Amino acid sequence: MSWISKLFRRTDEQEYTYEETPTVVQPARRAHIDDSEVNLPRFKNMVGGVDGGHHKTDAERVRAKLRDAFTPSHPVTDVRMFAGREDLLLTLIRAIEDQRLHAVIYGDRGIGKTSMLHVLTQLAKEAQYTVRYTSCGVGTEFSEIFRAVAADISLLYHEDYDPTDPAIEHGGTLADKLPEGRLSVAQMTDLLSKIHGTRILIILDEFDRADSAQFRQQVAELIKNLSDRSIAVQMVIAGVASNLTELIAHIPSIRRNIMGLPIDVMNPQEIEELVKNGEWASGLKFQPKAIENIIKLSNGSPYLASLLGQHAGLAATQRDAVRVTPEDIKAAVRQALEEVRLRISPRHIVLVDKAVANGNFETLRDMAASSMANAGQIL
Ligand SMILES: Nc1ncnc2c1ncn2[C@@H]1O[C@H](COP(=O)(O)OP(=O)(O)O)[C@@H](O)[C@H]1O
Ligand SMILES: [Mg+2]
Repeated sequence: MSWISKLFRRTDEQEYTYEETPTVVQPARRAHIDDSEVNLPRFKNMVGGVDGGHHKTDAERVRAKLRDAFTPSHPVTDVRMFAGREDLLLTLIRAIEDQRLHAVIYGDRGIGKTSMLHVLTQLAKEAQYTVRYTSCGVGTEFSEIFRAVAADISLLYHEDYDPTDPAIEHGGTLADKLPEGRLSVAQMTDLLSKIHGTRILIILDEFDRADSAQFRQQVAELIKNLSDRSIAVQMVIAGVASNLTELIAHIPSIRRNIMGLPIDVMNPQEIEELVKNGEWASGLKFQPKAIENIIKLSNGSPYLASLLGQHAGLAATQRDAVRVTPEDIKAAVRQALEEVRLRISPRHIVLVDKAVANGNFETLRDMAASSMANAGQIL
């Protein structure tokens, strides 16, 4: 329970701090024109606080904090901002720690897989695992991915090396032990079998994007070898899929070595927690009715809840208010729909417009939810 409890160590007294990028802005100069005369949209905030941050109004400060309080376009990286998912995380940790299983996390796009992996990475590092996170892409190959993983693991953990070995002092890694050219599963298994003094977690995110059937088969073989030989390396794989077999080839042969974990929509309490975390990090206060509306509109999608939370918060700061009201949520939906319009096909824009004209907000909500939850990609 020790590393799971760290998740909850945040106290409300802790003040949330956001990092400012320490870059100095060099204003671009044109020969004959004063910058202020050029009629262009402007950034609202100075990067790196060139103004020293002293002249920021409360609204500006809140707006800056809002960017980190709700992050619809990024996975959660700060453990304190990770809402809900306790049972799932506990099951995942138990599978890794107690059962020494490999894990496969699967679910829709935008449902929270990468956020979960970031939190898992941090918690595992705290428990002194060596963790290597990598994202797959189109054309990902076995050699490339696993050579990179090996290049990230110090020779310190190779059983043939003494801690005082000069190769370690010179930053030697497991990759130094690999032959040139394409790697086979057997070679990788042999290398990983030499690991001692640590446990390694290899995290492969976006596994669905790797389109090579051979790659998927090799990963399945590696999982089998690691399990059969009780090697101190475990894999955690995540990807968009509705079931396990869709994600991993040759499931039957590795079924008993892996824990499959579907990740689904969040329940209302979890969405509420997401909004409350955002409140805490931004200094805004969402009225109960506003939270209720976010819960209804987001349909359990953390992506949508995060998007609405951010837009609604911005709407409130535009009124110089610190209380977010149901009106701000309405403004957020309008704004979010505008964004969806930029992403969906013309045919669907017509459908959305029709739904608006007929006052058919239920349809609209569902369409917006499904399109936004999928980053506009299913429409
Ligand atoms: N447990 C969570 N707590 C707070 N926000 C979350 C959580 N899970 C996901 N999110 C938010 O939802 C969005 C999608 O999450 P992400 O992890 O990128 O999903 P996936 O990897 O499944 O596509 C991100 O904006 C992220 O900030
Ligand atoms: Mg992801």
